[in-house]
Amino acid sequence: MHAADAQDCHVLVIGSGGAGVRAAIEAAAYGETILVTKTIAGKGGCTPMAEGGYNAVLREADSCGIHFEDTMKGGAWLNDPALVQALVTEAPKRIDDLIHWGAVFDFTDTDEVAQRPFGGQRFPRTCYAGDRTGHEMMTTLMEQLDSAEVTKLQEVTVIDLLKDGDHVNGALVLDERGHLVTLTADSTILATGGGTRVYDISTNSSSGTGDGYAIGFRAGAELIDMEMVQFHPTGAVYPYDARGRLVTEAVRGEGGILKNNLGERFMTQYDPERMELSTRDVVARAIATEIAQGRGTPHGGVWLDVTHLPRAQIESRLPVMLEQFLKFGVDIREQPMEVAPTAHHIMGGLRITTECRTTLPSLFACGEVSGGVHGANRLGGNALAETQVFGKRAGEFAGNAKKRTKKVDAAQVNDHQQLLRRYLAGSESPAQVRKSLQLAMWQGVNIFRKDSELRHARTIIEQLSQASLRAQTAQNLAECCIVRNMCDTASLICRSALLRLESRGAHMRVDVQQKWDAQHSPFSHTYISRKREGIESAGGSI
Ligand code: FUM
Repeated sequence: MHAADAQDCHVLVIGSGGAGVRAAIEAAAYGETILVTKTIAGKGGCTPMAEGGYNAVLREADSCGIHFEDTMKGGAWLNDPALVQALVTEAPKRIDDLIHWGAVFDFTDTDEVAQRPFGGQRFPRTCYAGDRTGHEMMTTLMEQLDSAEVTKLQEVTVIDLLKDGDHVNGALVLDERGHLVTLTADSTILATGGGTRVYDISTNSSSGTGDGYAIGFRAGAELIDMEMVQFHPTGAVYPYDARGRLVTEAVRGEGGILKNNLGERFMTQYDPERMELSTRDVVARAIATEIAQGRGTPHGGVWLDVTHLPRAQIESRLPVMLEQFLKFGVDIREQPMEVAPTAHHIMGGLRITTECRTTLPSLFACGEVSGGVHGANRLGGNALAETQVFGKRAGEFAGNAKKRTKKVDAAQVNDHQQLLRRYLAGSESPAQVRKSLQLAMWQGVNIFRKDSELRHARTIIEQLSQASLRAQTAQNLAECCIVRNMCDTASLICRSALLRLESRGAHMRVDVQQKWDAQHSPFSHTYISRKREGIESAGGSI
């Protein structure tokens, strides 16, 4: 973008994954819409990398009530029921939109959208396009976006939100030349996706740096349940450069079996009923336990085996897995895969209403950057559905907002000019700070957590947050801004993990004795903002 130093619009959408693009398509009907993304629209974010599928109730034998219950139970009853209700009711309509726009999902011989089983669900309701579902969705959404009246600003990094009192008035961004630009808007939608790149091992693309959590927090929004980080049970462990890469749950949905190095099908010990299709929190802990107790594979994982499945099934339903592992030198039709947990998804995020309104006027959020839909543990397949349901909602409600006179606060712009000057004069490599942060999070805020390790990680994060980051040139300023966001997001996760003195869903506190099960917990959401932090009681009072 070689834009003017200032642009104005009705709706500003930040982020170009499934939720952001869906929001922009919707918002365009209401007035001038700008979509700003630090990547190339449709190429960054997690949606194009999502493999397994999209949950939607499509059959008579299934129901929204069962999908609701599965989601609440999977989320250890920490989910916001109104958000879950919206998700399960509207997911079928939003997949219809995609199909109508040309998305090619797999179909059955009887001409229905095909569905496969995914963990923690009593009905096989995960719709798919082989094992490249997100890619198919994103291609379709981008075609739709290209025919909508949306201005795309690409390779542009949002530094912070513009504020006028409590109101969010748009964003301050860095264009690809490193120039500061103000984008004012009547409504602003954060759709920046997740942030598990704050961990050393992650499924996220390199853009998953938690920008939206940090930007929202600094602007004064409240976030909930940031301690709830999902470790996907099955990431690649080998070769080294591919560590953490997603090995889709569809592998287990198609019948894949987990074994330890003794050849034991260990899920019999952890969840004999649901076995490999237990919820992700349970399977990830089971795998981590097997590895920690010395029953891991040579490269420090466990075995995931599909060799008993017909070759044709593997080839047609798991083509990306087959090709990916062939590149690693493993033919999954004949040899098992080595897998281990990898940081995958942040269930917490900005507190939103069903209209995707955050706690700040004129700021909306949708997709992974928002919290409350998935509670303490997300069911596989609910994230792609979430992008479409809440992307549309955010676009609609943001679009419906009244036009306003927007003031740009000169002092805020000045502060940011100074911040950028400090980066140009700084002394520490952002790449090194990033790596130290990722290691601290992996070591101290992992699947099994305890107070002393969390406190140690918090101290390291605080130190790293003070680093004098150095941008060699104006084009490197974005990297400093992103590392600043990573430090803030890591801090939110770590501080929230210290606030929750119970084990629930993905948050396992090994140092806390607990007398209740998740459904009867005395606690509800953790919350964190610049003004306050704490944990709500289950009765709702603070
Ligand atoms: O395993 C997977 O394919 C991931 C799906 C999801 O996180 O929803």
